Amino acid sequence: MNLMQALVKTAPDKIEFKMVAIPHCGPRDVLIRVKAAALCGTDLHICDWNSWAQGANIKLPLILGHECCGDVEAIGSDITTVKVGDKVASETHIPCGRCYQCFNGQQHICSNLKLFGIHMNGCFAEYAIIPEIGARKIPTAIPYELGAVMEPLGTALRAVHEAKVSGANVVVIGCGPIGLFAVASAAALGAATITATDISESRLETARRMGAQVTLNALQADIPKVIMEKISAGVDVIIEASGNAQAYEQSFHFLRKGGRMVLIGLPSKSVNLNLGKDVVFKEAEIIGIHGRKMFETWTQMENLLAAGKLNIKPAITHEFPLDQWQQGIALARDGRAGKVIFYP
Ligand SMILES: NC(=O)c1ccc[n+]([C@@H]2O[C@H](COP(=O)([O-])OP(=O)(O)OC[C@H]3O[C@@H](n4cnc5c(N)ncnc54)[C@H](O)[C@@H]3O)[C@@H](O)[C@H]2O)c1
Ligand SMILES: [Zn+2]
Ligand SMILES: [Zn+2]
Repeated sequence: MNLMQALVKTAPDKIEFKMVAIPHCGPRDVLIRVKAAALCGTDLHICDWNSWAQGANIKLPLILGHECCGDVEAIGSDITTVKVGDKVASETHIPCGRCYQCFNGQQHICSNLKLFGIHMNGCFAEYAIIPEIGARKIPTAIPYELGAVMEPLGTALRAVHEAKVSGANVVVIGCGPIGLFAVASAAALGAATITATDISESRLETARRMGAQVTLNALQADIPKVIMEKISAGVDVIIEASGNAQAYEQSFHFLRKGGRMVLIGLPSKSVNLNLGKDVVFKEAEIIGIHGRKMFETWTQMENLLAAGKLNIKPAITHEFPLDQWQQGIALARDGRAGKVIFYP
């Protein structure tokens, strides 16, 4: 049996870096040699086996990781979309192809959605099986470490695209990897001004390097007051990428009438809104975003990356060989790192 190194969640209280069998392709699978993989907050939830992970229909043992880029090593008998040697990145939303959403152009929010690296083995390993639809062929000019972050980048780019930021005053709330990618996307898509907020000075510093002209620390500034002093009508667009319930509530105070609020962050508790004042009379447009449009967002992202128009490198703050996974996870947990990349 051929073996490979993999990071495996083997039990609710156990993660093991161990040798496992290299998987074989089913007829509609793609086997890739993983060249770079990125750590995401979702991986930390599974590591911790928190209440979300316990309720997410995850079967153990599970090879962790869902954001990756690599080269096609082998293909199943029915695969025609990629060939051995192609460079691919992982789209993690695996739709059923048969539900209402799948038949109506919304397969990314399929009613029976399965997630790569969550409901099937992932990519923190030397090799990974990706179902055909999730193996996205990308231009060879995109380096592996950038290919590995296309999944989260795509979520941010899609949010910014739907927010129609051209010529707009934009506020990005939260400068974790998703918020940082939103800042870069807003710059690429022609926002007039970008203000970014966070509670971490190092993340705000990264946001400035990625295109934010103004950064505000939510622990120090009265954010609605500062923003309304600068732009008295309120801002055109808010991209929420903190998931912080209080930040969510505050943000409606500085959205202009008729403005667009695009929601990516997932609050862990209920958010109190005054729907009359904050939404109805304001005619606020509220748009929820769950991942990337399949595959319009990918096409847009590939074009922008290939043209050098998405300045995302500053968000990648740490890189490790996969066997140093413990260091990577510790850094991501302490909240100061941007994106952590593993090289299996
Ligand atoms: N909708 C989707 O498809 C999707 C995909 C990926 C992640 N998410 C969610 O998006 C959010 C961001 O993801 P991430 O990986 O960047 O997470 P993250 O935890 O790394 O980033 C959140 C950031 O918000 C900051 N923050 C906390 N309180 C704040 C406040 N009051 N004001 C401003 N900033 C504040 C934190 O310091 C942190 O930098 C999370 O809620 C995550 O669950 C959603
Ligand atoms: Zn992710
Ligand atoms: Zn479906």
